[in-house]
Amino acid sequence: MSPFRLTRTLPEDATGAALRADVREGLTGSPRTLPPKWFYDARGSELFEEITELPEYYPTRAEREILRARAGEIVEASGARTLVELGSGSSEKTRYLLDALSGLHTYVPVDVSESALTQAGQALAAERPGLEVHALIADFTARLTLPKTPGPRLVAFLGGTIGNLLPVERAAFLASVRALLAPGDALLLGTDLVKDERVLVRAYDDAAGVTAAFNKNVLHVINRELGADFDPDAFAHVALWDARREWIEMRLRSRTAQTVKIPALELAVDFAAGEDLRTEVSAKFRRQGVGRELSAAGLELARWWTDREERFALSLSVAR
Ligand code: AVJ
Repeated sequence: MSPFRLTRTLPEDATGAALRADVREGLTGSPRTLPPKWFYDARGSELFEEITELPEYYPTRAEREILRARAGEIVEASGARTLVELGSGSSEKTRYLLDALSGLHTYVPVDVSESALTQAGQALAAERPGLEVHALIADFTARLTLPKTPGPRLVAFLGGTIGNLLPVERAAFLASVRALLAPGDALLLGTDLVKDERVLVRAYDDAAGVTAAFNKNVLHVINRELGADFDPDAFAHVALWDARREWIEMRLRSRTAQTVKIPALELAVDFAAGEDLRTEVSAKFRRQGVGRELSAAGLELARWWTDREERFALSLSVAR
């Protein structure tokens, strides 16, 4: 069994304080919004896992196809001795990379979920003698400090999660990733691609209603954590394509005029009939745009791989 270490950079109550701040800011502003990170309690993570297996939700399968086909090339192009994975979750997709990275010294999974990190990290350390696993409990949208590990480093951010950030947030995020890297280190980034609107909308509004349940789960989270009295059935799930900004939006549309109380914030929020609460932006990308955004952050697009149907891309960029 090789070493497994766990470092917490998030204060124990960071989550509660951040949730309160996000809910207050998002529900008192106009239009009303909530950040998508609050979907993912135990139930929400389970629902997301279910989404990844839906016939309509192609991104997970498309990305897995690329990883399976290209892990060798990715590894060869990066020459990494340390793999840092942001938002590692169950580290399931990472196995393709880990299997190909023979020279790897240390794996650093970074996630806000301590349970996911401990489970996945301990299993990996046990399976792979010689691989050091140094898990970090951290919010990757905040400033990160990495353990001192041998270079070159490869930072992986998979799943298309970068699409959840707004353009200004994306620029700040990419700059903070660049700050973790030395010249020659690399970023492996998963991005979902612009495609037919019907295909996109179906992926976020599936026939079985799993995405609707996932969307409404954020209301259950706020009820439980902040004592709120949201009635999830009083909201309709909406998925729409914003053609100008090239992103999918998920919203919860109030079916009636209603007032929701949030005791932990001493707040009452009025919703008009038909009023929308935006719960997620999921941006879709083109090669040129990805190249431009990387370049603005000091990263040079070096390789671009897609699945056979060109639905999803993995890019490898190198720090200048
Ligand atoms: C996990 C952020 C990549 O945006 O496609 C799935 C989350 N939302 N269905 C995405 C999600 C609705 C997903 N990411």
